[in-house]
Amino acid sequence: MINKNRADLIVGIQWGDEGKGKIVDSLAKDYDIVVRYQGGHNAGHTIVVDGKKYALHLIPSGVLNPKATNVIGNGVVISPEALIKEMKQFPDLNLKISDSAHMILEHHSLLDIAKEKLRGKNAIGTTGRGIGPAYSDKVARNGFRIGELEDIDSLEERLLQYLEQNSPIFKSLEIEIDKRTIREKLELYREKLLPYITNTTNYLWNEMDSGSRVLLEGAQGTLLDIDHGTYPFVTSSSTISAGASIGTGLSPKSIGNVIGIAKAYSTRVGNGPFPTEDFGDDGEKLRQQGHEFGTTTGRSRRCGWFDAVAVKHASRLNGCDSLSLMKLDVLDGFEKIKVCVAYKLDEKEISYLPTNLDEVKPVYIEFDGWEQSEGVREFDKLPENAQKYINELEKLIETPISLISTSPDREDTIQR
Ligand code: GDP
Ligand code: IMO
Ligand code: MG
Repeated sequence: MINKNRADLIVGIQWGDEGKGKIVDSLAKDYDIVVRYQGGHNAGHTIVVDGKKYALHLIPSGVLNPKATNVIGNGVVISPEALIKEMKQFPDLNLKISDSAHMILEHHSLLDIAKEKLRGKNAIGTTGRGIGPAYSDKVARNGFRIGELEDIDSLEERLLQYLEQNSPIFKSLEIEIDKRTIREKLELYREKLLPYITNTTNYLWNEMDSGSRVLLEGAQGTLLDIDHGTYPFVTSSSTISAGASIGTGLSPKSIGNVIGIAKAYSTRVGNGPFPTEDFGDDGEKLRQQGHEFGTTTGRSRRCGWFDAVAVKHASRLNGCDSLSLMKLDVLDGFEKIKVCVAYKLDEKEISYLPTNLDEVKPVYIEFDGWEQSEGVREFDKLPENAQKYINELEKLIETPISLISTSPDREDTIQR
């Protein structure tokens, strides 16, 4: 046995923005190390502590716990510019960055934006942060790893060669890169980031061998997974729990509890299928009450009802031991609340997630609403109809709901 302990894992169960940041932050006090394993600064995690709001994109959401070490794993794609900017908020930052994590450089974001334009009406609705192009370069074996900052001369040479080789592509997309500032930028990245860069796989193995408790933090959500999401309307990484092994170097056997994070309703940013989207007053009410505007791009999030078929599917994909149900309070004041329990596809009712999710129509059941759950911290103190809603969801998704969140604040959570 290499690992004496197991690392617990937090994973988004819908289309991202489920409230992962709040849960990682509140759990971080019980862990020594918090690790991000995929994605990049397309993620936006809002954490509220004592009324103060923090927006995180790359630094793990354990950062507000002064005792935890924060690790950016090899599976993450790092924009050095974005990371340096984010680090400034935390003067005593306890951070380790995997030397194998790939960098998002200027041309990646420019390519992301240019390619989205070319897609026209089939645009994915990416965050424009360069995520797809950076992962594409990684898989095509043309990427730039952050550990290469150690030897700037070689890195600069390789980067200039890459830019030259790809110049016809850049030209046709009207992308211009100022080669004169490259050296200066790489020197800045090196100065600011090199002290934090290390072999994080070895670090995690050693720490786990000596009994440190590790929490793995997923970004995005299951339905945005490159393989299991609503392709091509997905992000470019493995967002599901299995991605944590690849993105950290911890074997699947060393993963312990898997906690899925889901909203009490659904949202999605960007394009792609969303069977329970509500285009009427209810969708608008969810958007307003839930402040459903993106942390990263400020875009308005598409809103709709809880999709029990999709959540049950996602729970199984991730091997969830339990689920945290977030933003219950956003449903306060609704007279009726709908939940999707099956889909209609070609006039047939199905209870699984098909590949052609854009062709299904939701089949709903309806629940009576409740007045107020906001700020409630004990299950028995929730309105009876809210308790009923949670108990029924639990049966539909075949996963225990062990935590319920009733406001953005760290303390407003119910443990069951
Ligand atoms: P993440 O990307 O999964 O970390 O989620 P985001 O931070 O992008 O979006 C979740 C938003 O909901 C944030 O603004 C949180 O502060 C907020 N939030 C989290 N839990 C709750 C809750 O229980 N109730 C309400 N009203 N807001 C919440
Ligand atoms: P967190 O971690 C919600 C979405 C984008 C777009 C698609 C592809 O805050 O939950 P990308 O820029 O990754 O190539 O965009 O994925 N997306 C997210 N949606 N929350 C996120 O992260 C997201 N990260 C990417 O809107 O539809
Ligand atoms: Mg988010």
